Amino acid sequence: MTTIRPLSHIEKTKPYVPGGKLHGAEGEVIMLASNENPFGPSPKAIEAMKGVAELVHVYPDPEYGALRKAIAEAQGIEDVSRVLVSAGSDEIIHLLTQAYAGPGDEVLFTEHAFSMYNVSALGHGATPVTVPETDFTAGANALLGGVTERTKILFLANPNNPTGTMMAVESLKHLQDSLPPHVILAVDGAYAEYVGESYEAELRDLVDRRPNTVMVRTFSKIYGLAALRIGWGYFPAELAATFQRIRPPFNINSFAAAAGAAAIADREFISMSREHNAKWRAIYVERLNAMGLPTPASSANFVIPDFGTEERAKAAHEFLKSRNVLVRAIGGYGLPTRLRITVGAERDNETVLALLAEFTASR
Ligand SMILES: Cc1ncc(COP(=O)(O)O)c(C=O)c1O
Repeated sequence: MTTIRPLSHIEKTKPYVPGGKLHGAEGEVIMLASNENPFGPSPKAIEAMKGVAELVHVYPDPEYGALRKAIAEAQGIEDVSRVLVSAGSDEIIHLLTQAYAGPGDEVLFTEHAFSMYNVSALGHGATPVTVPETDFTAGANALLGGVTERTKILFLANPNNPTGTMMAVESLKHLQDSLPPHVILAVDGAYAEYVGESYEAELRDLVDRRPNTVMVRTFSKIYGLAALRIGWGYFPAELAATFQRIRPPFNINSFAAAAGAAAIADREFISMSREHNAKWRAIYVERLNAMGLPTPASSANFVIPDFGTEERAKAAHEFLKSRNVLVRAIGGYGLPTRLRITVGAERDNETVLALLAEFTASR
């Protein structure tokens, strides 16, 4: 035993719980626990990585100019200097919190919000504050009711993980307009591509409406690059300058930078992924509800059927695991009677739905 102790708020921080893997399973495994793209990455992203393989002895471009330009072009953003990249969008969440919220400050989000906001607030000594949702959906007025003089950042994933629900853009604007100027509105669009291109443009325009709004995005979901750890953000100029001050040098590697630039330019691959997801998301909602597992409509790439009790949800989770299917338990998000199922490839979706029909027929 040593007498070395971390800062007291670090001692209180619990680590993020990831979707996990099915260790020790034999045969084919169906992984639907982490909202990954069942098609993998765009073939163009893989080609781009091959192109940089022989250059790994040199550091990446410290400014990630090509990647940022590709993001700005794909998203119709004029000022590339306000597009910044990170090692996963988790890093943006952490750096924002590091820069703006510490002991004595509050970080605001809703009751079933993405758990990294809580981890990050605690990890920086700030106080997480949550407000209730209505029908699993964040509401602008509920969030405004949670704002105090000490609130520094309001995190809102839209669509949210794990609920899959979203706040309408008009309400987002109302929230943005009503926030006091000392609060940063960080809108996390990890699943924005699954809503559609016009919504992506609306999020971009939201950042341009006010100097208090940041858009956080990821390459881990529709772009199929979760293992490369790439996130990006669109910032107001002042916040971009702050972010640049604390961004670790070379925070993403050359493979990630090359793959990300190719992936975001491959609009065909993105549209194909979005259309597949929209089709299967609707099928899941319809068939799960028909099985007696109430499932709200989702705007993302996952659904959350309700098994009625925590025990039954656990039993379904174990049953699926015993058949080599991994989905996500979301008791840690305050939703213990539900499971989160990522929309997968057609055959895997059919398998999961057939297994759940078998489960509900007997239990
Ligand atoms: C809403 C939301 N934001 C951010 C992330 C983090 O993504 P990454 O760090 O892989 O970019 C996730 C991952 O599940 C998420 O669901």
